Amino acid sequence: MNTRLPVTILGATGIVGQRLVARLARHPWFEVAHLAASARSEGQAFGQACQWRVPDCEPFAGLGHQKLLACDPAVSFAPLVFSALDTQPAKEIEPLFAAAGALVCSNASAARMDGDVPLLVPEINPGDLDLLPEQRQARGTRGAIVCNPNCTTAGLALALAPLAALGLEQVFMVSMQAASGAGYPGVAALDLMGNVIPYIAGEEEKVEAETKKILASRAASPVVSAHCNRVGVVDGHSASVSVRLRQPVSHAELGALLGNFRGLPQELELPSAPRQPIFVHTAGDRPQPRLDIGREQGMCVHVGRVRECALLGTKFQILSHNLERGAAGAAVLNAELLRATGWL
Ligand SMILES: NC(=O)c1ccc[n+]([C@@H]2O[C@H](COP(=O)([O-])OP(=O)(O)OC[C@H]3O[C@@H](n4cnc5c(N)ncnc54)[C@H](OP(=O)(O)O)[C@@H]3O)[C@@H](O)[C@H]2O)c1
Repeated sequence: MNTRLPVTILGATGIVGQRLVARLARHPWFEVAHLAASARSEGQAFGQACQWRVPDCEPFAGLGHQKLLACDPAVSFAPLVFSALDTQPAKEIEPLFAAAGALVCSNASAARMDGDVPLLVPEINPGDLDLLPEQRQARGTRGAIVCNPNCTTAGLALALAPLAALGLEQVFMVSMQAASGAGYPGVAALDLMGNVIPYIAGEEEKVEAETKKILASRAASPVVSAHCNRVGVVDGHSASVSVRLRQPVSHAELGALLGNFRGLPQELELPSAPRQPIFVHTAGDRPQPRLDIGREQGMCVHVGRVRECALLGTKFQILSHNLERGAAGAAVLNAELLRATGWL
């Protein structure tokens, strides 16, 4: 890739948008051309409108001077668009960019379950990009929309993908989801500190439906039951997972199967691909968000405590970075796959 492809970031001021800015400002294949946000921020400098919350990064990734534009292809078009818009504006704005000819890599839930939209995890279902010509034809657009899954689904689906070959029949999971999963400023500190909130609107339905859509590519259609909780962790969604597998497997074999799992991003050596998509912990008290979330720049899913489950047969703990593997990093990895496979 000799020339860097210009990109637009929609929703650049939000907690996911900032992560996109941080990743893309130093990307070898892509170059930030436009930053866009709501009418509240339009016309202001990025550094003025955005409450920068990305750790270990130069403030505003050096783009604080850049003027925020409207989310309108007439003023902020680029051939590749990253969307970190809330669901409602995404529903209206993303199709406008696709109609104008852009490939839109979306974090929003608006189009994820549409039959003609790839819900992409590049290690699991890269072949779902074959939906793009169908989408273009059905919608009469030159561009198209590609989605990454919900932040909880992203980690869960990656941990489950290698198990599809063992006859994955049932999945029961209880999440402990970080505060940053609710955007910025998110849940009020007084509601969340020293507390567990046992409800996240729409989350359980999204995890159940999206996991099934992604795993269909691996000929698995497990029954999925999700319980989702918000806890006082800053970044990193944990989940306790139980699975029923048709094929018997020892815990050592299961650990090896997960740890050795690789996909197309690793084969193609995509810039944002983790070397090891699933990191298996052997210590009995891991993974923990505070200790483990930074591994592989937040792009691997952690699995630990693989053991027997009296109910479904096998259980384990998972952890993944909701803002990276679950959002910005996932969208960038999707775009890298699009470019490496000739869609861009
Ligand atoms: N947080 C996570 O862990 C996570 C993970 C996966 C997916 N997602 C999804 O990613 C998207 C962004 O989430 P977030 O957590 O970053 O939310 P956020 O912090 O609340 O940011 C929302 C962004 O959308 C912009 N926006 C809001 N209304 C708009 C409108 N009418 N027109 C144009 N722009 C508008 C905001 O701009 P202003 O600053 O100008 O208001 C801001 O840039 C959501 O769809 C969310 O479901 C989030």
